[in-house]
Amino acid sequence: MERMILQTIRHLEDLPTLPSVAVEVMGLSRSPDVSIKDISECIHKDPPLAAKVLKMANSSFYRRGSQDIDTLHRAILLMGLNEVINITTSVSVLTSLGSRKSQGQSLRKKFWHHCIATGLIARRIDTRLRLRLQGREFVGGLLHDIGKIILDEYFHDQFMQAHSLSIERQCSMFEAENEVLGTTHMEIGHFLAQKWGLPPYIADVSLNHHRPQDARFKDITSVVSIANLLAKAKELSCGGDTMSFVLKDQQGWHILKKMGHPMDSIDLERITFEIEDIGEEVREYISTISDQEIQEHAHA
Ligand SMILES: [Fe+2]
Ligand SMILES: [Fe+2]
Repeated sequence: MERMILQTIRHLEDLPTLPSVAVEVMGLSRSPDVSIKDISECIHKDPPLAAKVLKMANSSFYRRGSQDIDTLHRAILLMGLNEVINITTSVSVLTSLGSRKSQGQSLRKKFWHHCIATGLIARRIDTRLRLRLQGREFVGGLLHDIGKIILDEYFHDQFMQAHSLSIERQCSMFEAENEVLGTTHMEIGHFLAQKWGLPPYIADVSLNHHRPQDARFKDITSVVSIANLLAKAKELSCGGDTMSFVLKDQQGWHILKKMGHPMDSIDLERITFEIEDIGEEVREYISTISDQEIQEHAHA
C-alpha cells in the first residue's frame, strides 16, 4: 500500500485541470521581459476568467483607491503585475477545484473556510511583520491544503477514515493520512501544484506547511504554517487536527525569528484578538467569488 495511492493519483487521467489561459499566464509571468499588454491580452482570451479577475481586483480585498478598475491593463498599472498574477492564480485554482463535488459537503464547506482564513491571516502576519511577500503569502495560504480535495474526491472512504483516526488519537491529519492512505495531503498537493505548473512557492508551501524547516521558500511557508494553526485555533479547521499548540514553540515562528523578523514584538493575545473578525472576512471573500464555484459549496 505504501506510496500506492500517490502512484495511482499520478496516473489518473481525469484529474481536474487548470484553465489553459491560466497556465499560459503563469508561463508568461516567468519571462523576464513580459509586458503589461502581453499579460492583459492573454487573460482576455478567457472572458469569464478576465471578468472574475477584474471583480476580485475591485473587491475590498485588493482595491486601494476609490476609482473603479475597469480594465486589466489598469489593474496591472495600479496593483502591479505580481498581484494580478496572484489573483489570476487563485481565481483559476478556485474555479477548477471549487466546483468539485464531495460526498461530505459539510466538510468541504469547512475546508474552504479554513483555506481562505489561512490566506487572510497569512496576509495580516505579512503586514504586521512588514515581510513584503507581495500577496504570495495569501495565495500560499489559500492553496496550502489542495491535496485534501484530491484525496477526498478519489479516496473518500479512506480519507474519512483518516479524519476519524485523527480525532480519535488527537494526532495531526497528515499522520493519520499516512497511516491509512500511505501518503499525505502535502505530497498530493505538491504533485498537483507541479503538474499544473503553479509557481514553485505554491508547490513548496503545499509540501512543507507542516514542516517549514524543510521549505525552500522558508518565509512564505513559515507564515502559512503559523496562519494555518491560527485559523484552526479560531475554529476554522477543515476537520481532524484537534491538538493544541503553543505558537512560540512552532518551527515557523523560530524560522522567522532567526531570519531577523521582530517576532517578539508580536503580542500573541492581540493577534488572536485581531483575527476575531476573520470569519466575517472569509464570508465576504466567498461572496466575491462567482456563484458557480465555491460559493455554492461554502454556503451549502
Ligand atoms: Fe495541511
Ligand atoms: Fe490547513
